[in-house]
Amino acid sequence: MNSKDRVPASIDPDDIGYNDTPNEHFSTVLEQRISRRSLLRGGAASAATVVLGSMGLSACGSDNIVSPTVPDPVIPPPPAEKLLGFTAVAKSLADVVTVPVGYTASVLYALGDPLTASATAFKNDGTDADFENRAGDHHDGMEFFGLSADGKPSASAVERGILAVNHEATTNQQLSSFFIHANGGTNTLPRPAAEVDRETALHGLSMVEVRKTGGKWEYVKDSAFNRRVTCLTECEISGPARGNALLVTKYSKDATKTRGTLNNCGTGKTPWGSFVSGEENWSGYFVRGAADNAARGNDKSVASLNRYGRSQGAASRHAWETGGADDKYARWNNSKLGASADGSDDYRNEMNGMGYIVEADPYNKAKAVRKRTALGRYAHESAAFGKVVAGQPLAVYMGDDSRNEYIFKFVSSAVWSAADANPADMLATGDKYLDSGKLYVAKFAADGSGSWIELSISNPAIAAYAGYKFADQADVLINARLAGDAVGATKMDRPEWCSVNPANGEVYFSLTNNSNRNVNPTGSSALAPDSANPRAYTDMKGTASQNGNPNGHILRVKEALAGSTALSFTWDVYLFGAESGADAGKVNLSSLTSDQDFSSPDGLAFSPSTGICWIQTDDGAYTDVTNCMMLAGLPGQVGDGKKVTLSYPTTGGGTLAVDTYVGKAATADTLKRFLVGPVDCELTGICETPDGKALFVNIQHPGEGTSQANLADPSKYTSQWPASAGYGAGKRPRSATIVITKNDGGRIGS
Ligand code: FEO
Ligand code: CA
Ligand code: CA
Ligand code: CA
Repeated sequence: MNSKDRVPASIDPDDIGYNDTPNEHFSTVLEQRISRRSLLRGGAASAATVVLGSMGLSACGSDNIVSPTVPDPVIPPPPAEKLLGFTAVAKSLADVVTVPVGYTASVLYALGDPLTASATAFKNDGTDADFENRAGDHHDGMEFFGLSADGKPSASAVERGILAVNHEATTNQQLSSFFIHANGGTNTLPRPAAEVDRETALHGLSMVEVRKTGGKWEYVKDSAFNRRVTCLTECEISGPARGNALLVTKYSKDATKTRGTLNNCGTGKTPWGSFVSGEENWSGYFVRGAADNAARGNDKSVASLNRYGRSQGAASRHAWETGGADDKYARWNNSKLGASADGSDDYRNEMNGMGYIVEADPYNKAKAVRKRTALGRYAHESAAFGKVVAGQPLAVYMGDDSRNEYIFKFVSSAVWSAADANPADMLATGDKYLDSGKLYVAKFAADGSGSWIELSISNPAIAAYAGYKFADQADVLINARLAGDAVGATKMDRPEWCSVNPANGEVYFSLTNNSNRNVNPTGSSALAPDSANPRAYTDMKGTASQNGNPNGHILRVKEALAGSTALSFTWDVYLFGAESGADAGKVNLSSLTSDQDFSSPDGLAFSPSTGICWIQTDDGAYTDVTNCMMLAGLPGQVGDGKKVTLSYPTTGGGTLAVDTYVGKAATADTLKRFLVGPVDCELTGICETPDGKALFVNIQHPGEGTSQANLADPSKYTSQWPASAGYGAGKRPRSATIVITKNDGGRIGS
């Protein structure tokens, strides 16, 4: 096994660049980079191993009661609610969830929790099995689907519903998911089948019923709605790639099915009420033989595999392919092993079955998940629907999260009919809107404008692309990264989630960070800063230099008048992540204060109730000072700020001037830190009840920095959350969903 190419779990698999096309820069060597989070996690984190028992979920800060206003006899009194009226939560390294005074955060649903009446309580000591009937690991994106009192789908229910949860990955440093095996599991080959079976079952999706009983939210262990979809559950291929030659496998010779959804990250909710989920870093789970290029006759599949991160000899994240002779293990080997011409006797095409937005009916577990291939294949995050207008096509906005990847928009062929909301057959409605349409990629210009370029086989730049010979439109969609290369799309600083501002339809994109931005780019896919990704600087973490755009930014797009079908837009940067003390002229361009400063935005979603823009971080750059966090923003609009020109000295003695557009500076009334999580976690998953009074949030991978060698000694865990908050057995840290409520019964964020 070529360990050089294995991505250890201590490496953030997001932080890998595979885009070495020279559309806007020189980039040569495909390189896997160890994230700052992994390299620089150190003493500060371990020093924060504090057991706080029932204080694990704490409130802090001073009194946040809004001062009463004397009612004016003529003008009606102001509403009691003032959004962002809470006192900002301070940065923290404590192993707790901290929310503002006046709020309560409670653990609701954690890794291993049983989902059937017969599943046993989770012991959390490495002896648990039956993970197909338990909550998966690494809770990520999440959506709420209401249920009426009599258990029917309801868009207005506020006390009962189904949470649809992504289970992105599992905590490992070498091969093994060590917190779920008694002795930490096996890091030599072959992997025992029993370990592999547990680990595959931890990935995928869960649907879990939650309800408010006696004023307290709980999940319902024996609900008939509870469901698991794992990375081995059969899924339907839907849309233009269904039946395409590139999807023929031993499992599905007619290219209509595949097994599982994998590394599900961001989510979305369709206008008709179903759940969508993005498959992100799936490629790292597959292995390719050391001589696979030659085995394939160096055909065009080699370019595709390389572009999606699997050069020959690449080793897999968990070596699941070594679990045994059964086909469920063999499918993880993406090498050409068979003699067939079409791939019907092996899994050489298996990776083409991953990398999609998938749609599930959260209320009907009998319906297989559908892979919506029309939206393109890449490292998907969330899928955000643009403002819905009757009689107009739907727009779906998406990002591809790897360094230097692209932003996309799908526009449906079908125009929206209000009669399609909450249909009896959600996936048939999904077929109507998501299986036929046009896929576009974004190109950002230095004057604050931008354009959507259609990824069509009829575009000469694609049809005649020297880097890859596209056979048909399905091939363009399956290889959307290569199609983006062909049309010269703008390489971004790792697009994570996107969300649409319900107030004005503008689309917000988290660009989490990019270690490759460099004023003097040389080699290894370095990129010069450009207008939409304008910063390249050094931030210190202790004595370590973090270069590029270590803190990330949030970009927003305003479509031209045509709305969902517009081919042009304007843009600016809503916020630049930065330390509050950083240079205001070059780094802290949004003038963040200590109540607002953040790094590496990732989860991002607007509240349909309050309009608050929730921002969550998945950071390694500022974690010497604070754990990851969640902020509440009340943004303005594209163009409410100013143009700024950043000047960089170049090695040649010249100056690189980069124009960018900075949104209006945040104030204490428009941006505030709302939550800080436990040690080594990222904050993710944002959804709420329709009244805005219960906010569900996910704490992913607390304690992931714990050494596997320290498994026997809980005092050496970097986190013991949520056990430290009084939830569940054992002390091994667990990813979990929390629910946040306001003690006075008000809306979250007021
Ligand atoms: Fe799974 Fe890009 O975060
Ligand atoms: Ca720093
Ligand atoms: Ca993410
Ligand atoms: Ca991330």
